[in-house]
Amino acid sequence: MKRKRDFISIKDFSRGEIEILFVIADKMKQFLRRSHGLLAGYVMGSLFLEPSTRTRLSFEAAMNRLGGRVITMTDARSSSIAKGESLADSVRTVGCYADIIVLRHPNEGAALLAAEYSPVPVINAGDGGHEHPTQTLCDLYTLRHNKGRIAGLNVILYGDLKYGRTTHSLALALSRFGADVLCIAETALGLPLFVARECAATEGVEALDLGIDNEGGIAIFGPGVTGGTLFTHDRSRWPLRDGKLAAAELHCDAIYVTRLQRERLQGESDAAVLAPVDEAFLERKAFTDSVVLHPLPRVDEIDYAVDDDPRGIYFEQAALGVPIRMALISYLLGREYIEAEPAAPIAELERPVGARCPNANCIVNVETSYLRPRFHESDPGIVQCRYCDAVVPPGP
Ligand code: NCD
Repeated sequence: MKRKRDFISIKDFSRGEIEILFVIADKMKQFLRRSHGLLAGYVMGSLFLEPSTRTRLSFEAAMNRLGGRVITMTDARSSSIAKGESLADSVRTVGCYADIIVLRHPNEGAALLAAEYSPVPVINAGDGGHEHPTQTLCDLYTLRHNKGRIAGLNVILYGDLKYGRTTHSLALALSRFGADVLCIAETALGLPLFVARECAATEGVEALDLGIDNEGGIAIFGPGVTGGTLFTHDRSRWPLRDGKLAAAELHCDAIYVTRLQRERLQGESDAAVLAPVDEAFLERKAFTDSVVLHPLPRVDEIDYAVDDDPRGIYFEQAALGVPIRMALISYLLGREYIEAEPAAPIAELERPVGARCPNANCIVNVETSYLRPRFHESDPGIVQCRYCDAVVPPGP
């Protein structure tokens, strides 16, 4: 029997597979306004145990446009989870009713656990502050649509990069697609170690922690922001001088803005010190032909005036979530075929590590009655939780 395919991490798909998904999504666009019978008779179980507007509705719209049907659960309080049912038992049950499961869950690693227990393919629609790989498909697809390519772009990730799960999957993907990534965040809200390490380890990528030499003394990213981290394939794309980035000469193709993930903060300052993206911000030379992306919801990071600026493409980005999710569901259900080298599987550590996952919000530390810690090793000696990727501090 063919092994079922899940989509838990952006790393589960190779670059070649993602590029073919884009071609399938292009084809799906013609079925946005009229239905297509490709998935007639199939049922999608949509389990959203955290708030969602775009992700849930675009998945459900995608399934409906393909002629399939949707069963949905959006509130744990009205399900058996409220009676103490484990996630493993919940997905085993939903897998009896649906052909594919889309899961959003507040705990990191929950989607991997679900995939292991579910008899049908599982799609990660956001697992805590870990990953959001289908948002990344949508982000990459939007970039390709607007810029004609992804390789060679200079992209700024701007906002809460610590808990913003969309930026984790996106930073990994952009690095692998040959784009350069400049991370600008409040000091306590930079990319987590597991993402930064993996970006830096991508073939051809160099990681640089940089100061910012601000334009004429005006701090372009906000008064508190004095530095950033750059993952670059080619230093010459960036105005670097003595370890500093000359803000006045910067060229940015896309700025990806995220909101502060207030619901996930663990005592970090919640002062939004980054400058809001408004017309004055976009007037700078660096952003002349830069598109502005945001996974949404926006709170106050992007001024409403930018909605009328052709560079503000975040609603188009939300719209493109439908064809790309149509492509993904059809592929995982075996109704579209992709001939491309698959992604390399992640090798688990065989030897017992005797360590625990350090992340209290990881599913392995929540569903403790049946889950055992599991690990993988990205670099020799760097042990990471298999569920949430948190780097395990070396033992005594
Ligand atoms: C994001 C999410 O849920 O992670 N939204 C989305 O899926 N489009 C971003 C966010 O909540 O800030």
